[in-house]
Amino acid sequence: MGLLEGKVAIVTGSGRGVGRAEALVMAREGAKLVINDLGGHFDGTGQSRTPAEEVVHEIRNAGGEAVANYESVSDFKAARRIIECALDNFGKLNIVVNNAGILRDRMIFNMSEEDFDAVIAVHLKGTFNVTRHAAAYWREQHKNGNFLNGRIINTTSDSGLLGNPGQANYGAAKAAVAAMAIIVDRELARYGVTANAVAPIARTRMTVDATPQTAAAMAAPAASDFDRFDPFHIAPLVAWLASDDAKDVHGEVFRAGMGTVWLMKGWHSVAKISRKGPPWEPAALGTQLKEELAKGLSAKESMGTVMSQGA
Ligand SMILES: NC(=O)c1ccc[n+]([C@@H]2O[C@H](COP(=O)([O-])OP(=O)(O)OC[C@H]3O[C@@H](n4cnc5c(N)ncnc54)[C@H](O)[C@@H]3O)[C@@H](O)[C@H]2O)c1
Repeated sequence: MGLLEGKVAIVTGSGRGVGRAEALVMAREGAKLVINDLGGHFDGTGQSRTPAEEVVHEIRNAGGEAVANYESVSDFKAARRIIECALDNFGKLNIVVNNAGILRDRMIFNMSEEDFDAVIAVHLKGTFNVTRHAAAYWREQHKNGNFLNGRIINTTSDSGLLGNPGQANYGAAKAAVAAMAIIVDRELARYGVTANAVAPIARTRMTVDATPQTAAAMAAPAASDFDRFDPFHIAPLVAWLASDDAKDVHGEVFRAGMGTVWLMKGWHSVAKISRKGPPWEPAALGTQLKEELAKGLSAKESMGTVMSQGA
């Protein structure tokens, strides 16, 4: 018996890449899937039904159950229809994986308002939209005595957790969806819902076509070798977080990829200076702070060091 037998899951943006692998593994574990994907270009333009349809076929061919949905997560009302798609086809909803994403990288001084808004709309508002409708549904069901063990898994990124030049729009949205998982978890724990976030590292069109600078480092090895950038390295963590076995995992942020799962912790104090009495003179405060900063306690991990040092 699979880990997700009897569960119904939505994976947004699961027509390709990381989301596709997550959906296929969750289906293999027994879940019924809504394969949501707008089918656009990596910059968010265009649309196609083909990616979602192909994943639905893959799941059905393997004996699983899945239905395609082509709505955009960035539209509040359309996001409601994604939830309804699960309810109409499978009668309930247990799991939401907020994975859909686009990229429009620019240095901050060249970033247009449209590039900023488009990325925020898919990653941040899209995560809010789907989560909002799912949360209302789970709360209502809980009130009626129907305990569904709701699961939210947000897709964050090292860009948001560590910072990556050229991605002020994307990184800000990804930091926000990690924070949103922590906050939503605190709000929904009483309804039996958990919310966590996962930062993937994988070879997809987002890291190959959209960011050619990482493409070479992520190239697939010869067939017999360990393919460390295979997107299927992320799916087992997501499938487990979605399961009843992970009921006590609340508001955590993970990184997954390259055969490794990292537990991440951010924004914790590493040093402090205090004073009792009148407020500091700014220059005196600066002197003391420089002493603390010189101790080298600030985080040194960057996206580059993670990828080059690996697991
Ligand atoms: N690949 C990596 O190493 C990596 C690293 C960090 C974070 N991520 C995140 O993982 C997630 C998946 O990305 P990927 O690498 O698989 O890229 P991908 O481009 O292969 O897949 C993203 C999918 O989202 C879909 N999508 C885009 N906008 C949508 C919308 N408005 N509504 C519904 N679907 C939409 C696209 O059509 C596409 O199929 C993204 O959130 C991305 O930011 C990926």
